[in-house]
Amino acid sequence: MSTYNILVLGSGGREHALAWSLNRSPLLGNLYIAPGNPGTEDFGENIIALKPEAYGTPAAWFEAIADLIQDRDIDLTIVGPEQPLVDGITDFLESQGHKVFGPTKAAARLEGSKSFSKWLMAKYNIPTAESVAFSGKSVLDEVEEYFKASDLDWPLVIKADGLAAGKGVFICQDQQEAVEHLHRIREDETLRKAASRIIVEEFMVGEEASVFAITDGRHARLLLSAQDHKRIGDGDTGLNTGGMGAYAPAPVIDKHMLQIVEDTILYPTLGAMQLEGHPYRGVLYLGLMITDEGPKVVEYNCRFGDPECQVLLPAMKSDLLEVMLAAVNFELEKTEVVMSDDHFCCVVMASGGYPGAYAKGMEITGIGDVSGDALVFHSGTRRDGDNLLTNGGRVLSVVSKGPDLRGAIDSCYREVRKISFDKAYFRSDIGVKGLKRL
Ligand code: AMP
Ligand code: GLY
Repeated sequence: MSTYNILVLGSGGREHALAWSLNRSPLLGNLYIAPGNPGTEDFGENIIALKPEAYGTPAAWFEAIADLIQDRDIDLTIVGPEQPLVDGITDFLESQGHKVFGPTKAAARLEGSKSFSKWLMAKYNIPTAESVAFSGKSVLDEVEEYFKASDLDWPLVIKADGLAAGKGVFICQDQQEAVEHLHRIREDETLRKAASRIIVEEFMVGEEASVFAITDGRHARLLLSAQDHKRIGDGDTGLNTGGMGAYAPAPVIDKHMLQIVEDTILYPTLGAMQLEGHPYRGVLYLGLMITDEGPKVVEYNCRFGDPECQVLLPAMKSDLLEVMLAAVNFELEKTEVVMSDDHFCCVVMASGGYPGAYAKGMEITGIGDVSGDALVFHSGTRRDGDNLLTNGGRVLSVVSKGPDLRGAIDSCYREVRKISFDKAYFRSDIGVKGLKRL
């Protein structure tokens, strides 16, 4: 059997889960992770120096990645996070004859440009919130004018067009809040850059959940639905984070609902991208609101979610590498994806203070006591000799499975409580929304 040398780009829990899953494949040759983290080291070679921050521009980083691909005879590059996809890493590497799992720059606009995704959904009748787009020279003034001049139904949602590290979306209860938010955008350089175009959108009422598919552009294989927990506090309170936990499948998306999502959102989106001349290949993450009128798109993402990836990959019975190779080679039609019937829960352990200021360098203990049935994926950790230290906001994610959601949640928290570090914080209600539906 031939084997494939693989490069995974990224350094979070998502990439640790990717490395863990790839390592189970008989098709795996050598695995490299750039830059990787102390967890990914167990499954391959971390190329620590190859981190984007070490290069002045995305182009310089892409060149260095291409050199590594040549040097190590890498057959496939799997891109974890969105930024390099939006910056065009797939186009660059493919132009040099390399294979990449992840969409091209034009296709990654589904995540990288909200005005593009809203335009596409409107053109192809894909259900989403009603919206108005602003793109003039003094876009913030235009939006302010719109808020003041029109008789609007509040709340409304203001969205910056581009990637804004989770800060680009703001729900405004009234005109005053909206105008205040526009001032905040004016004063924040990152936000101002992302907000060269602005979408103002209807506030959708419902329950949020996401659906993930791997696609070769024409055919798609559904993984599972999942639910993230974006806020820092129990009961979905407090500031937004990268995600504090996830579970899969999400009962709000039952078999019937999943079929509706496939028919009205997933395949219409793939068809639309093909018709526009930008077939979408890779993971398509559908962020959905399940409303009384059916599922509607809140956002598309062009990669796995973190921490959703940490529950989806352990739930995958099929060989991830085989499926990814089939997607890259336009052969997904011939490939089945089988998911487990079990339920999966992931709890993120974070540094106290996150998503605000937090301390680093706390010793992490207890990982060795975690049951062999559970998984611990690293995010913000660092090795110091034999010790493992905290090195980021989200530190670890712990994943357990169970025959039902209750079982998965209980066993996950049992394992989480075995791990400790100074000021460790985790939400205590991951999955509770799902339990309420049962
Ligand atoms: P986004 O980055 O577009 O996913 O937005 C971030 C979060 O804002 C989502 O996960 C939702 O919780 C919320 N959100 C965004 N758009 C809407 C909307 N139109 N209606 C209600 N909530 C929304
Ligand atoms: N967990 C949400 C995201 O990865 O975008």
